[in-house]
Amino acid sequence: MVISIHQAMVACVLLLCFVTVCTGMPDPAQRDMLMRQEASRQTGGRVILTAAEQRLDAHLHRLKEQEMSAAPFPPAVHFFKAKPLIQQSSIFSLLRKMPKGGALHIHSSSLVSVEWLVKNVTYRPHCYICFTWDRSVRFLFSSRQPFPRWDCVYWQLVETLRAKAKDPTDFDNSLMRHLTLFTEDPDKAYPSQDIVWEKFEKAFMAAAGLVTHAPVLRDYLYQGLEELHRDNIMYLELRSGLSRTYELDGTIHDKVWSLKTFQEVTQQFVADHPDFLGARIIISVHRALGVSEVKTAVKEAIQMQRDFPEVVAGFDLVGREDSGRTLWYFREALSLPADLGVTLPYFFHAGETDEEGTDVDQNILDALLFNTTRIGHGYALAHHPLAKELSRKRNVAVELCPISNQVLKLVSDLRNHPAAVLMSEGHPLVISSDDPSLFGTTGLSYDFYQAFVGIGGLKANLATLKELAVNSIRYSSLPPHLKETGLVMWQNKWDIFVSDSS
Ligand SMILES: *[C@@H]1O[C@H](CO)[C@@H](O)[C@H](O)[C@H]1NC(C)=O
Ligand SMILES: *[C@@H]1O[C@H](CO)[C@@H](O)[C@H](O)[C@H]1NC(C)=O
Ligand SMILES: [Zn+2]
Repeated sequence: MVISIHQAMVACVLLLCFVTVCTGMPDPAQRDMLMRQEASRQTGGRVILTAAEQRLDAHLHRLKEQEMSAAPFPPAVHFFKAKPLIQQSSIFSLLRKMPKGGALHIHSSSLVSVEWLVKNVTYRPHCYICFTWDRSVRFLFSSRQPFPRWDCVYWQLVETLRAKAKDPTDFDNSLMRHLTLFTEDPDKAYPSQDIVWEKFEKAFMAAAGLVTHAPVLRDYLYQGLEELHRDNIMYLELRSGLSRTYELDGTIHDKVWSLKTFQEVTQQFVADHPDFLGARIIISVHRALGVSEVKTAVKEAIQMQRDFPEVVAGFDLVGREDSGRTLWYFREALSLPADLGVTLPYFFHAGETDEEGTDVDQNILDALLFNTTRIGHGYALAHHPLAKELSRKRNVAVELCPISNQVLKLVSDLRNHPAAVLMSEGHPLVISSDDPSLFGTTGLSYDFYQAFVGIGGLKANLATLKELAVNSIRYSSLPPHLKETGLVMWQNKWDIFVSDSS
């Protein structure tokens, strides 16, 4: 173990104190100094606040004291029950106004709220639905009655079903329930991780037919950026498999079409909203694939990054880690870029597990061995001292998605989230929302609330929030000059936020 000069000094002073001056009572000045030193290590602990920021910080602190003494305390209960409480919180309304920088961990299939999917997309003409034997649904846009496909024999027009329904609002609500995990009684609906993940995968499949319709994808991406922008987010890194898309007549577009569409929509959005910095893609494939398929995907990603360097940030493997294949399983595929002498930045999901000591639990170390740029979730990181040291030394930020971890049943009371350790020692960290539409969130404010109030507790302060927002640009995949631009844009927004709120 390496003892820093700083730690040695503290030890010395303590020793001196015990042998000379003090009797039984620790020196209060000493105690005070140690407390300040410890606080300086946390996220934001070295950020110096302006006078205006200090006033806002004091205000936030009072609000937090009130909120922490209230029962029930939102971070301690399931988010589906906490959501209405959080919506009434004064801290939450401040967080919504706060410029939060970038969202670095969101999946494309759950970017947009289910309200929009149902109220906008399923109201379009030629939208067919079918109910599968396992009580899921599939959607398909088609100019004529679709042939049987997937698990679906019998396709009906949504329009017809809605017209026949007693109450169209009930009908729409029932569609929404297929597209999200959100439910009134989550403990009853999802007694185990297996069951909640099963519903999770079903909801993905249900949304797929809507989102991969080519004309929908365009509006969907625009709407997604709109929802982020409304929550004061200025940048997005979206994990996407770049699924093939289809037209009404059955024409299929390839992955490159999706990538170009993403680029065009982003450019349009930035033109319409000059205070939005942009968006990039992390190409992701499912960890259920075989090694040779992942090899192909890695080669494709290398090519797409070469052709669209401003859009493609890198590569990731997605899907449940616990039941999926490990990074080490894919080692031949993942070492291809290095073998070919090219760079393909990785943004691996790793350590989204509570199964300590399993092969899956080694994903964090393997992610670092493959030079990952950030770690998605890193829920298990606090239990891996060596990996934690490496990730800190190499400035590999952890993408913390508190609500995702709670809904997918890694932790129930967010005060016990292991990221509390990471926050208290200032580990590189960003906050994100993972699958907002599935969890019933929008933007990042709900996750910021949980991280700030639940995980960070009373000691997380305005400096913590400031550092987390800055981190989202600092640890983004943007080239240095765009990070500069982004930080300047963010600082302007921040100054306005502080002067408006204090
Ligand atoms: C759906 O959204 C698009 C784009 O935002 C809009 O042009 C269209 O009118 C909406 N359609 C419905 C049925 O609400
Ligand atoms: C990771 O980075 C190290 C140091 O730059 C390099 O030697 C190694 O080849 C890289 N490994 C992979 C798998 O990219
Ligand atoms: Zn994820």
